[in-house]
Amino acid sequence: MFGGFSLFSSDMAIDLGTANTLVYVKGKGIILNEPSVVAFNLKNGRKEVLAVGEDAKLMLGRTPGSIQAIRPMREGVIADFDVAEEMIKHFIRKVHKRTTFTKPKIIVCVPHGATPVEKRAIRQSVLGAGARRAGLIAEPIAAAIGAGMPITDPTGNMVVDIGGGTTEVAVMSLGDIVYARSVRVGGDRMDEAIISYLRRQQNLLVGEATAERIKTSIGTARMPDDGRGASMMIRGRDLLNGIPKETELTQAQVAEALSEPVQQICEAVMTALEATPPDLAADIVDRGVMLTGGGALLGDLDLALREQTGLPISIADDSLHCVALGTGKSLEYEKELRHAIDYES
Ligand SMILES: Nc1ncnc2c1ncn2[C@@H]1O[C@H](COP(=O)(O)OP(=O)(O)OP(=O)(O)O)[C@@H](O)[C@H]1O
Ligand SMILES: [Mg+2]
Repeated sequence: MFGGFSLFSSDMAIDLGTANTLVYVKGKGIILNEPSVVAFNLKNGRKEVLAVGEDAKLMLGRTPGSIQAIRPMREGVIADFDVAEEMIKHFIRKVHKRTTFTKPKIIVCVPHGATPVEKRAIRQSVLGAGARRAGLIAEPIAAAIGAGMPITDPTGNMVVDIGGGTTEVAVMSLGDIVYARSVRVGGDRMDEAIISYLRRQQNLLVGEATAERIKTSIGTARMPDDGRGASMMIRGRDLLNGIPKETELTQAQVAEALSEPVQQICEAVMTALEATPPDLAADIVDRGVMLTGGGALLGDLDLALREQTGLPISIADDSLHCVALGTGKSLEYEKELRHAIDYES
């Protein structure tokens, strides 16, 4: 690119996720990727921003009474409007620091199933954070573009984006959505399933951060072939006597803990396939299903899905970045994709 390009263009694309927020700057690519968390200091009844993103995530579950760490997005949509706006402002300021005086145009992706009220909330918070114009694009379209799928071809393409809050299953053809459904199952639900399994089976209380660490290090969607798999030592509070306890956890146990959310994801794919017109469904049987989002990285999830649905399954390169990359491309190719971007509602 030309030197100083950024002086002329500070338009941005934002993937405002339940777990992570990514910012793509036109002509530059993804330049910010931080957890969607804000920490506040509570002073004389007033909230003062203490940390945003990575630093705030470290405080989750570890705050004293005077500090509050909040995740403003839940299940893919804004749960706390003021905090979300605060967070977006902070991130925009962070990437916008040395650039222009003009306000940026910003495209944000929204879950396909977002209601008009939820869409308006997202648009308002982006405008409130300093955007000149705010466009919305459906998340499955962004995910598919980011994964490099040929969505403008006259063939059926299925993308399954497994995020922190939701799993969105969509079938696309000719650049538009033929079928889409969002189920409120994603990484958060997996973490909760691990927490409740440990409480039930081991009388052990662990926090969300520990559950997420278990999931990302030894989490698996499928019973290991040897009936046990790898293991790790975990620490929590013994619910019987209240004191800290360390214990070993195997992959087989984690597979059991995760069986319900994994099953729900498989069912969402089957339901989508059944609801897809036959010729497009035949394309998907041939071409397979593309997984995107952080949840796509769960161990053996592709295998479990293949076994249960009989479809070929692939995991997108950079699965955690697909939605942001696709939203960013919609900024670069706005003319071609104008039917998919909504500046109005
Ligand atoms: N290796 C891994 N195995 C399993 N899960 C993982 C792995 N890496 C990340 N995750 C999970 O992926 C989720 C985050 O994914 P992603 O960034 O796609 O979500 P998001 O876009 O913020 O959420 P949403 O799209 O639902 O709003 C988190 O729940 C995280 O724990
Ligand atoms: Mg997402």
